[in-house]
Amino acid sequence: MTTAQWWRGTVGYEIYPRSFADSNGDGIGDLDGIRRHLDHLVDLGVDALWIAPFYPSPGHDHGYDVADYRDIADYHGTLEDFDRLVAEAHDKGLRVIVDIVPNHSSSENAWFLSSRSSRDSEHRDWYIWKDPAPDGGPPNNWVSHFGGPAWTLDEGTGQYWCHLFLPEQPDFNWENEQVREAFDETLRFWCERGADGFRIDVAHALMKHQSFADNPRVVDAPDPDDPGAVFNSFEHLYDLGQESTVRIFERWNDVVEPYGAVLIGEVGHGTPERLEQMVASGDALHTAFHLNAVWEGWKPEWLLGELEEVQRRAPGGISWVIDNHDKSRSVSRYGGGALGRQRSAAVTALQMALGGMPFLYQGQELGLDDGKIDPADLADPISTRNDHGDGRDGARTAMPWTTGWRNGFTTAPEAWLRSEDRGAEETVVAQSDDSTSPLSWYRSMLAIRREHPGLWETRAEWSNPTPTSAALRRGDIVVLSNLGDEPVTFDVDEVLDVALVSYGSEPPEVQSSSVVVAPTSTVWLTPA
Ligand code: NOJ
Repeated sequence: MTTAQWWRGTVGYEIYPRSFADSNGDGIGDLDGIRRHLDHLVDLGVDALWIAPFYPSPGHDHGYDVADYRDIADYHGTLEDFDRLVAEAHDKGLRVIVDIVPNHSSSENAWFLSSRSSRDSEHRDWYIWKDPAPDGGPPNNWVSHFGGPAWTLDEGTGQYWCHLFLPEQPDFNWENEQVREAFDETLRFWCERGADGFRIDVAHALMKHQSFADNPRVVDAPDPDDPGAVFNSFEHLYDLGQESTVRIFERWNDVVEPYGAVLIGEVGHGTPERLEQMVASGDALHTAFHLNAVWEGWKPEWLLGELEEVQRRAPGGISWVIDNHDKSRSVSRYGGGALGRQRSAAVTALQMALGGMPFLYQGQELGLDDGKIDPADLADPISTRNDHGDGRDGARTAMPWTTGWRNGFTTAPEAWLRSEDRGAEETVVAQSDDSTSPLSWYRSMLAIRREHPGLWETRAEWSNPTPTSAALRRGDIVVLSNLGDEPVTFDVDEVLDVALVSYGSEPPEVQSSSVVVAPTSTVWLTPA
């Protein structure tokens, strides 16, 4: 059994390090920048920070192409900076979660350079190499998430390498015991330096079906220039979601157990059953992100059904999110402006009552919508390597700290990802002084949450009075969520006090046997 229980009931905060805070004026965020802003996270009331990859990397996928798993990119700082960051975070009561990228490395990683150098290389079998199909083409029909086939021919050795993302991100061969040992060592390396856990990139993809059979096509003729549509036109029977992947995480669980570190899987392209499978035993992943809510726009009926099913199937082990660095921000996806902010807060207030380990993404606490970028400045490979697809840059623009130069993110002329400056009302400094701001609401919501451990320690009782509303009782808290456009009357059997109303919404009308909840709002109530 695992001892990594510290995370239960906590709230995580994702930091995209390139865009959080630049301490040395080169336009790219760094570890020292994060360290200098730890008080923002303390004041916000989160418990742990997850830092997206900070390793040496050619940056084709902005850090998710790792050239060295046990070092820091010079533009992000040094290992000593990491140690200082961890020490200060721990002093302030914050845990630090490292992003580990085990499905693929960079093509410039020494292991791949060796693997590619010859069929006899000692690292050849660390990656997935296959002979060409009889016509000389790729060995099967697998496609890359970022467009084109999942295979590239190495002219030198006459075989194709597999890459579920960019050609510059070759997939490891997880059948190979040496690969497993190398990652055990890497996990220990960061645990020894004080890491409190790992966010595991593309956790559902590590093992491939050894038949390497073609994936069945389920949708005909998607827009060939839209990599997401092409990827989703296949049923990923053979490249993703192999049951044997769980065995890898059982092994990892043993590795990190002495350190009490948490394993948080990024389990994408998943059904609720897949998520359940990944976290069911607690002896493999401790928790896994529920990402379907990040991919979708405003679909309240679908969302409530999905959240109910996932929390029922995996009551303890889900990391709830609506925002991350891979998708347009929820405020924008949910319609933008005041309405988008209100919807985003209503869903967040519900998710914060679902147990597990929910996460916020940097800037979500400011109610930010997507940053505005000139198309010529887009940087994400999804947009730069395809003729279609907006890419993920809108969610990756610089964090607005102040009303000063470049919103206090950098002293450089521009951030690495050039975007329009944010207005004063969107900055941390202005929102801190405004009791009606999104930031003030997020702070009070997280403070109230801490006072009610029933929100994660007890089982949830759900009901859905209408298709777009949900009532949830957990311990002493009653959570009523109305994501529809009309007020909803919820029957209650006791007199309740209002503990929280989601941002931008009218307060509920509370009577002794009923509560009328305004449209687009979630309220938390406690016995009077
Ligand atoms: C998921 C990460 O969140 C995303 O940013 C990255 O591009 C892919 N995995 C590939 O590593």
